[in-house]
Amino acid sequence: MRRVVPPSPLSWTCEGGIAYPAMIGIFDSGLGGLSVARAVRALLPGHDLIYLADSAYCPYGPLAPEVVRARALACATWLVAQGAGVVVVACNTATSAAIETLRARLSVPVVGMEPGLKPAVAATRSGRIAVLATSGTLGGERFQRLRERFAHGAEVITVACPAMVQLVEDGELDGPRARAVVAACVESLGARGVDTLVLGCTHFPPLRPLIAESAPGATIIDTGPAVAAQTARVAAAARIGPGDGIVRCATTGDPALVAPSLARVWGAPLPLERARC
Ligand code: DGL
Repeated sequence: MRRVVPPSPLSWTCEGGIAYPAMIGIFDSGLGGLSVARAVRALLPGHDLIYLADSAYCPYGPLAPEVVRARALACATWLVAQGAGVVVVACNTATSAAIETLRARLSVPVVGMEPGLKPAVAATRSGRIAVLATSGTLGGERFQRLRERFAHGAEVITVACPAMVQLVEDGELDGPRARAVVAACVESLGARGVDTLVLGCTHFPPLRPLIAESAPGATIIDTGPAVAAQTARVAAAARIGPGDGIVRCATTGDPALVAPSLARVWGAPLPLERARC
């Protein structure tokens, strides 16, 4: 199997114990992974980040796992070629389909993520949990294993919410239409006794205020901060040190079309380049 090697040793190695400012590479199908990038930035403000939105292939949720795997490999390879010294798969769907392949094929450490079922089981008092995720994540073997391992005694209701993914891609984080879309996915769960919601898709944290509004009193679990903490540990072990605190963004789609939504999801405009991968 061919492994992908970063282009310049200076961008990632640590000779004589010196940490070089390699970038932390982060990708998702689209803009959802910015919720993870934000958590990474909060923890490591001096590190350089490079974020890739695979907008040309978004959404990943309905795609066959082998297509998602191929896209994940293309995105991660592109990030490594740009000088990423660690790759964060800021996407539950891509982790489910591709994490083993990425770890086998890349020469840099890879951080993945999965729905926070374990903390949800610890948090629930009613014993009913809802996992909001994509159909790809919910139908994957990885999620079945997670469920077998951690769901003991708790009832797990799964909800695929592709319309919420689209809201974030459209940069529509508020307003009557966004509120109605979120309510349609979430509102009935309270009446079913659900007291804990797992945000099992990185597109959902930007909609958290609307989700909380539609599920008053529910505990909401977002694994973004835990993934950021793991990224910080992995970056430190790989001796990736702070750089200039740069955030570089790229999309496989049309930057002019993606930029307005990216500015809304990130909370400020960021320069956006075209990635061909
Ligand atoms: N943000 C992604 C996730 O965490 C995927 C959303 C999609 O592209 O369908 O699963």
